[in-house]
Amino acid sequence: MPTADPSPDLPSRYAAVHERAMRDPEGFWLDAARAIDWTTEPTRAFKPKSGPYGRWFPDGALNACWNAVDRHVAGGRAEQVAIRYDSPATGTKRAITYADLLREVSALAAVLADLGVGRGDRVILYMPMVPEALFGMLACARIGAVHSVVFGGFAANELSVRIEDAAPKVVLAASCGIEPSRVVAYKPLLDAALATARHKPAACLILQRPQALASLVEGRDRDWAEAVAAAEGRKPDCVPMAATDPLYVLYTSGTTGKPKGVVRDTGGYLVALSWSMSNLYGVQPGETYFCASDIGWVVGHSYIVYAPLLHGCTTVLYEGKPVGTPDPGAFWRVVAETGTVCLFTAPTALRAIKKEDSKGSHVAGHDLSRFRTLFLAGERADPASVAWAERVLDRPVVDHWWQTETGWPIAGNPVGLGLLPVKHGSTCVPMPGYDVQVLDEGGKPVPAGTMGTIAIRLPLPPGCLPTLWGSDTRMRTSYLETFPGWYDTSDAGVIDADGYITVLGRTDDIINVAGHRLSTGGMEAVLSSHPDVAECAVIGIRDALKGEAPCGFVVLKAQVARDPAEIERELVAKVRDEIGPVAAFKLALTVQRLPKTRSGKILRATMKRIADHEPWTMPATIDDAGVLDEIGESLKARGIGEG
Ligand code: COA
Ligand code: AMP
Repeated sequence: MPTADPSPDLPSRYAAVHERAMRDPEGFWLDAARAIDWTTEPTRAFKPKSGPYGRWFPDGALNACWNAVDRHVAGGRAEQVAIRYDSPATGTKRAITYADLLREVSALAAVLADLGVGRGDRVILYMPMVPEALFGMLACARIGAVHSVVFGGFAANELSVRIEDAAPKVVLAASCGIEPSRVVAYKPLLDAALATARHKPAACLILQRPQALASLVEGRDRDWAEAVAAAEGRKPDCVPMAATDPLYVLYTSGTTGKPKGVVRDTGGYLVALSWSMSNLYGVQPGETYFCASDIGWVVGHSYIVYAPLLHGCTTVLYEGKPVGTPDPGAFWRVVAETGTVCLFTAPTALRAIKKEDSKGSHVAGHDLSRFRTLFLAGERADPASVAWAERVLDRPVVDHWWQTETGWPIAGNPVGLGLLPVKHGSTCVPMPGYDVQVLDEGGKPVPAGTMGTIAIRLPLPPGCLPTLWGSDTRMRTSYLETFPGWYDTSDAGVIDADGYITVLGRTDDIINVAGHRLSTGGMEAVLSSHPDVAECAVIGIRDALKGEAPCGFVVLKAQVARDPAEIERELVAKVRDEIGPVAAFKLALTVQRLPKTRSGKILRATMKRIADHEPWTMPATIDDAGVLDEIGESLKARGIGEG
């Protein structure tokens, strides 16, 4: 039987560690749990008959804020910098020690408690990359509330959908975020979201940033700074939570317009993150970790906030871009100034840097002596960019694979256990607890080297989602029913004879734009709601910088006599307005017909091959072969594809 287990010849402790986790998961994870402070120590690691596929550490209790903050203050790290905020967007730098962090988080927790927030209540955060966002997440954790962070690049409608689903008692928001080209006023977006959401939170706490002050709604909105100043010195206790209690809900694109609320439980998550810091990332307590993502994404939750703080590291909070703030040397400057040992970013960021500084000349002049490893994730790392980074940085570059659902990497090269041989294009080997296999359409594991759907044998390891918010049923139908006994990753790929996993792309309608996960189905819903559109199809087409870029094909209603170019502009604006700028939807093409099978299924995969200049064959089931030529022509007219 093919297996994802690595070749035993590889010179690393990985093989033994992974083998033990497979053979004795109870013992392995109970040992790993010792790195965490528990108010009630777990006596068992896993309870199979609980939830959709079982629950981790069913009898343990702990508090995430205690583990990330208080215990470091108590344990001698009070004066160590916990958060190094570096914001080229505002020209600000700030060093926040663990003692400062405890004060800030405690006061904010008191404010939330005064607003009626308690154990199990939800709090939505709609905030940019500022320290207060981290204080907010940790303050929720302190008092047992469940936070849900919404990425700032989403529009009011997306925020509204999440408010409606999470039903938060309080919303924490900033007056604005800062993009290189503009100040994004968040408050009007929040107001619009609250106007349409049926659920109304009791209060909104608004962080006023000088770049765009927000007007406050009497009776509902409070000024963040004033409220926290009034609570200074107060320190609500850390509430002991069941390990199975949710720490947060993070919404991610699903295959329908309705986002999935990925639930993260407390105990399993902290144990898995803690294991990953020393064993996967090879980082020790006290060192500096720089994850250049955003707190709105899972990568930010795990590796800007929780993992580095749990591990007693200094985390870098960077409010800027890889290029343009001010130049493609920005990351190297931050790495040097903060003494970063491990940098984690998305391949798209690397491509952006490479495009502007192909020689890597911006690396020179920065002292990178403490820097050891670059980690990449979020989308497929193209071998050319990886090789470029290895050359200019002269350090190992590790591609690792994960999903919002898993909360920590499924596969990677575990540097802390001894670097395994690097194979460009592959995300290396599975982490402990992940039994990864490639399955055929019937759910049978395929021989090594054969492509198929990548699945993980149940149970998923600690840290992965136990369920979806409010719906065990959707959890089952989305992930567990396609292949009974397995979690369907919806990624296609291949595992080679050494057990190395290569992820090739999604099997569903999710596309990955600049490392951001987006649903083409969601965009189609927006296009279809335009009064002039009869039908549409959105596909992700190859983009040299962003990996993929969405492209929408629309068929107009028969009676529409307006200029199609004008309608196309309206459609681009509509997606930006309803989903957000992050969708990067810039291309709508009017066509006469969409290519379909005789049973009416739109041939999106063939359209994508045409747009991506890839060889394609005429599907035997096509309704009208001439339509594909028309699609090719319309792409060619915009300089895309070969027709
Ligand atoms: N708030 C408001 N708007 C935002 C935003 C935020 N937090 N983040 C992005 N946007 C906007 C951008 O300003 C841009 O708007 P525009 O259409 O007016 O230019 C739009 O959303 C698209 O943003 P993005 O796709 O990020 O493109 P970009 O051209 O601004 O930057 C990169 C390109 C490659 C530099 C950038 O995408 C990047 O750093 N990506 C890495 C992503 C990442 O770390 N992902 C996490 C997975 S590890
Ligand atoms: P997200 O939930 O936003 O983290 O996106 C998860 C999806 O991004 C995965 O299902 C993959 O399709 C893709 N992805 C993440 N990391 C990688 C990687 N290292 N290589 C290839 N694809 C990746």
